[in-house]
Amino acid sequence: MPQRLAVYPGTFDPVTNGHLDVIRRGAELFEELVVACAVNITKQPLFSVQERLDMLREVTAGLSNVRVTSFGGMVVDFVQSLGGRVILRGLRTFSDYESEVQMAYANRTFAPGVETLFICANLEESFISSRLIREAAALDGDIRRFVPSAVARRLRAKSAALKADVALHSKGKGGGSEGDHQRGRASGRRPRR
Ligand code: COA
Repeated sequence: MPQRLAVYPGTFDPVTNGHLDVIRRGAELFEELVVACAVNITKQPLFSVQERLDMLREVTAGLSNVRVTSFGGMVVDFVQSLGGRVILRGLRTFSDYESEVQMAYANRTFAPGVETLFICANLEESFISSRLIREAAALDGDIRRFVPSAVARRLRAKSAALKADVALHSKGKGGGSEGDHQRGRASGRRPRR
């Protein structure tokens, strides 16, 4: 039976231009594309599920047949709960191929009725990954080419907040209390370790 709906699952921590390319192209192929943000138990994302959903919704606002939601549990169960049969995934490099095929086989074993379809990522974006972008943002690299502007803004804000947090917590480091540190400064000598 021809399928009107497809699910594009991922962690989206955060959504990149590469993901957005897959979303746009998927939305042209299906009547409805559900972008499903995984409440992933095997990763420790930088952004909360709500933040990832907010970013996804903001960057897909112009695509009327794209719905953004989150899911926990098995992706195949989620797809079937929507009455769907198609998982859409993007393929970038050969290393993607290996892990993606493994996942597709596993999903097909769990739910033989569910098919995984792949879209080849744009060449220019094939080297992007969320991890690279998170790392570059934390080091004040220019990430504007790789993520939508709304995402770049949030990444900068998140990096600034994390740096402030690290600075705050490394102040009293070395075993001395904040009080010792302040006293040491006030007396013109370094706090004793
Ligand atoms: N452009 C840019 N980057 C891309 C990309 C593209 N087109 N496609 C993938 N990526 C990147 C992601 O940014 C991510 O980078 P990171 O690891 O550096 O953060 C990496 O490739 C893989 O990300 P993603 O596509 O989000 O896949 P994932 O491995 O995080 O998510 C799930 C995989 C969520 C789909 C899978 O774990 C799942 O289905 N989980 C639910 C539980 C389940 O059913 N498990 C059994 C599965 S067999």
